[in-house]
Amino acid sequence: MKRVTLIPGDGIGPEISDAVMLVLDKAGVEIDWDIQTAGADVAQKEGVVLPQRVIESVKLNKVALKAPVTTPIGKGFRSVNVALRKELDLYANLRPCKNIKGINTPFQNVDIVVVRENTEDLYAGIERKIDDDTAESIKIITRAASTRIAKYAFEYAVKHGRKKLHAVTKANICKLSDGLFLEAARNVADDYPEIEYKEILVDNLCMQLVQKPQQFDVLLLPNLYGDIVSDLTAGLIGGLGVAQGANIGDVCAVFEPVHGSAPDIKGQNKANPSALLICAINMLKYIGEDEKAQKIEKALYSVLEEGKVLTCDLGGNATTTEFTTEIIKRLD
Ligand code: NAI
Repeated sequence: MKRVTLIPGDGIGPEISDAVMLVLDKAGVEIDWDIQTAGADVAQKEGVVLPQRVIESVKLNKVALKAPVTTPIGKGFRSVNVALRKELDLYANLRPCKNIKGINTPFQNVDIVVVRENTEDLYAGIERKIDDDTAESIKIITRAASTRIAKYAFEYAVKHGRKKLHAVTKANICKLSDGLFLEAARNVADDYPEIEYKEILVDNLCMQLVQKPQQFDVLLLPNLYGDIVSDLTAGLIGGLGVAQGANIGDVCAVFEPVHGSAPDIKGQNKANPSALLICAINMLKYIGEDEKAQKIEKALYSVLEEGKVLTCDLGGNATTTEFTTEIIKRLD
C-alpha cells in the first residue's frame, strides 16, 4: 500500500482533510496515510512549528497532501509553508485555473496555468529593522533558480500542449532582480520556439486578467507576484474554494490548495473541501492511481455542475458534511 504524508494543517485544514480522506476511502483508494501535524499548536508541544519529522516523512514518502497552515501576520513564527517548500526544494508552484462547469463567474473560457517560483524572492525571509521607523526586506533572485523555474514552465507548456507563455515581472522598477529573472526566461525561451514567448509587467497583467483573461495561457512569475496573481486567477474561476495547487521538486511533490486556513469559518462546517479534493485527485494521478482519480473527479464535478448542493463560498448553503456526502453518493 502506498504511504503518503498528510499534513492536516490548522483552521479549516483538519475539517477539509477529514472530508477528503473520507471521499478517497469510499472510492476504494488504498493509502497508508502518514499523518504529520505542523503549525502553532505543534510549536506549543514540540517547540517548533515545522518539526524535522514532517520533513523526513515527506522525504521518505516523496509525496504529500497538505492542508493550509496559519502564519501570524506582522509577528510570530515564519511560515510553515515557505519553510517546507524550501527544505524540500519544491521549486515549482503550479496553480492551474480553469472554469468549472456549473460555477458561474463573470469570466468564461478561462484556462490559465500559473507557474510560480517557490524558493526565493522576498520569501527568503531576510528582513531587519534598521531603526524604529525603518525596516528592510531583501529580495533575492538568482540566475540558477530563475532558469530552473523557466525550464519547468516551458517543459510544462510543451507537455500539456500549451501555446503561449508570459514572463511576468516588474523589471521596469526592480531592474536588477526582476531583470535577471527576465533574462533567464528569455534565454530558456530560445530553446522552445514552438511556444510563443511574451513579457508583461505585473500591474498591467492584473488589469488585463480582469478584462480579458482568455488571452493568457501559461504565466511564469517570481514568488511574490505568483502568490498574488494566483489568488486573482482563483477569483476568476469561482474563488479559493476550488483553486488547486502543487509544489513540485525533482524528488518530492506536495499537493496543496491555493487557499489559506480561513480562520473566519473555522469549525463551522462551512468550508469547501473541493480545492483539497482536486489536489488529492492530482496526487492520485501523480502516484499512478488514475482510475480512482477519475472516479472521484467525475463525482466531484457532477456535484459542482448540478449546483444543487454547494457550500456557501459557491453561493449554496450546504455544509462541508452535506457536500462531502453528496460526492460520496455519486462514486460508482
Ligand atoms: P484564506 O485563503 O484563508 O481566506 C480568504 C477568504 O477565502 C476567507 O474569507 C475564507 O473564508 C475564504 N476561504 C478560503 N478557503 C476556503 C474554503 N476552502 N472554503 C470556503 N471559503 C474559503 O486567506 P487569509 O485569510 O488571507 O489567510 C488565513 C491564514 O492562512 C493566514 O495565516 C495565512 O498565512 C494562511 N495561508 C496559508 C496558506 C497555506 O498553508 N498554503 C496559503 C495562504 C494563506
